[in-house]
Amino acid sequence: MRCYELQGPDGFASLALVDKPVPTPGPGEVLVRLKAATLNYRDLLTVKGGYGSRQKFPLVPVSDGAGVVEAVGPGVRSFVAGDRVIGSFFENWLGGEPSETRMRSALGGSADGVLTEFRLFPSQALVKTPAHLSDVEAAALLCAGVTAWSAVVKLGNIKPGQIVLTQGTGGVSLFALQIAKLNGARVIATSSSDAKIARLKALGADVTLNYKATPDWGKKAREITGRGVDLVVEVGGVGTLNESIRATRIGGTIAFIGVLAGPPQAELRIPLMVMQQQRLQGTTVGSVEDLQALADAMAASGMKPVIDRTFAFDQVKDAFAHMESGAHFGKIAVAIG
Ligand SMILES: NC(=O)c1ccc[n+]([C@@H]2O[C@H](COP(=O)([O-])OP(=O)(O)OC[C@H]3O[C@@H](n4cnc5c(N)ncnc54)[C@H](OP(=O)(O)O)[C@@H]3O)[C@@H](O)[C@H]2O)c1
Repeated sequence: MRCYELQGPDGFASLALVDKPVPTPGPGEVLVRLKAATLNYRDLLTVKGGYGSRQKFPLVPVSDGAGVVEAVGPGVRSFVAGDRVIGSFFENWLGGEPSETRMRSALGGSADGVLTEFRLFPSQALVKTPAHLSDVEAAALLCAGVTAWSAVVKLGNIKPGQIVLTQGTGGVSLFALQIAKLNGARVIATSSSDAKIARLKALGADVTLNYKATPDWGKKAREITGRGVDLVVEVGGVGTLNESIRATRIGGTIAFIGVLAGPPQAELRIPLMVMQQQRLQGTTVGSVEDLQALADAMAASGMKPVIDRTFAFDQVKDAFAHMESGAHFGKIAVAIG
């Protein structure tokens, strides 16, 4: 089988396409013929060598994949050959609270990922693909989809009529917009691009703000809502946190997810966060149970992820370059099989 390996810490120069034998499933394992993968910003950081000490070499990069069951090992009853399936970001976090053991094994980081034609998965870590989704669409759910689900539904506890603010038009943010709308919330969505803002409106954003043209977008969001938003899906990180604190209502939540905006430009307004009794909620993807809940919600509603573009398997480096350019709207995919 053909398989990408990150063979060392030299970024794209270390990313090689190699041949390996197709593995055989052991007890409890499922051999999946991968059909599609989607990229996350984390995968770009991983390939460039900026994603923490747990990264191993050689590493099969990229966490998010979907495909078709090729064969099952002894004792596997929940899947048969031909089933369409989605993998899970943390294979050991099946449900319940996160723990160090459950989060130790993350695909495309501490464990081999999905840029490969075949991969063995523990049967408990797989979820059946909703029938209305293509393999490319299904591969978008794992990291970005589940993270947005955790931020908006599981941890954000968003109810109909509440207000969610999303930042930019990457994978997590568009999922958060769609999931918030699915739950009856109003959405204020930001972007640096007016062309992308038109697409945000088409996706259902109630209010849009260009965060380049309106650098005090947090203040603006508070003015528009009168009291502030109930939840900010914070993918910018500490670089956008001050505006997020401004945007959030007293008692509201900031789901802290990403690092896109880099370091803060001014001292963080933590005292303001304290005085407004806001909740800063760290959000780290989710469990297999969360992935199943997202898949069920999408199957029931017909919701589909936004796929920006699909690259061929031998164009993986171009796919990463496209992500680095920031030109995308939604998920960047790679067709494998
Ligand atoms: N904690 C977790 O479990 C977890 C899970 C998934 C992702 N993440 C993190 O979440 C972040 C988003 O990931 P992703 O995969 O969705 O990224 P992505 O698809 O690469 O998102 C890129 C988009 O984000 C927007 N953006 C960039 N800088 C921004 C800024 N300063 N303010 C507001 N928006 C900005 C831009 O949108 P416009 O072009 O519209 O401006 C850009 O196109 C990353 O930092 C990633 O590492 C964390």
